[in-house]
Amino acid sequence: MSVLRGNNGPRYRHDPGDQSPYETIRIDKLTPIIGAEIHGVDLSAPIPNHQMTEIHRALADNLVIFFRDQHLTAEQHLAFGRNFGTLHIHPAAPHAPGHPELMIIRADKDSPRANGEGWHSDVSCDTEPPMGSILYIRQCPPHGGDTLFANMYAAYEALSDRMKAYLDGLIAEHDGEDAYRGTYKNLGVQDKPVYPRAEHPVIRTHPVTGRKAIYVNRGFTKRILGIPRDESAAILSYLYSLAEDPLFQCRFRWTENAVAFWDNRCVQHRAMWDYWPHTRSGFRVTIAGDKPW
Ligand code: SIN
Repeated sequence: MSVLRGNNGPRYRHDPGDQSPYETIRIDKLTPIIGAEIHGVDLSAPIPNHQMTEIHRALADNLVIFFRDQHLTAEQHLAFGRNFGTLHIHPAAPHAPGHPELMIIRADKDSPRANGEGWHSDVSCDTEPPMGSILYIRQCPPHGGDTLFANMYAAYEALSDRMKAYLDGLIAEHDGEDAYRGTYKNLGVQDKPVYPRAEHPVIRTHPVTGRKAIYVNRGFTKRILGIPRDESAAILSYLYSLAEDPLFQCRFRWTENAVAFWDNRCVQHRAMWDYWPHTRSGFRVTIAGDKPW
């Protein structure tokens, strides 16, 4: 490691940002770089303004936040999501009856696949990809079923200045076709004639924090436009490897009735399907976002 990276200290020096104390919530960080459990919030009830401001801040500071022991109806889960914007409807996945914005997350002994098994940012193939996702897991396997999250600001900031300059202004194609066609057939979902496809900057600027983050992922990104295909493949492979570096990650061990809320604009995630033949299930509410720039 030291030969590859030199002997000049850590490859990434995390800036902890605003350290002023929270007043209405308690924060328990998973790592210095990403992830925090939030205590003192009941997501089933209307959230007072001051506490909502602190939840926004906790999300901006930690990129993914977790709430344990929440008891939410579908309406309460949806209402919590609406505090952050309009809700997104998934272009392919099944949803709860009567609630198109409530995506079903489930894998059991008969599943041919589980949601989110590869590193991705949710629905990055949309022209305006989701800002955030709020996953509520109701049933956990006895062991496993963790979700991993990676800080894509940190991955960007760890790049050399030369690499940052090279990536500046590059555009990548994202396509939902391979990810979605036939994927939910076993659940009775008919394929759509076409799935979303979009072009986004390889490096996007977060509209709230103003920080830059890598915005290409194995799940949806097909190629970088305007450069030779082999060069695109090599660069993408390098950028994907950064999301997969544990230095930039946290790993959440679910308990029943826990909630994870992540910011898709600066986070990639991956769900572990290591618990077959057991069942893991819940629901995801996804918040609409804006066009990356
Ligand atoms: C997903 O939203 O990609 C699924 C994540 C999970 O099930 O942990």
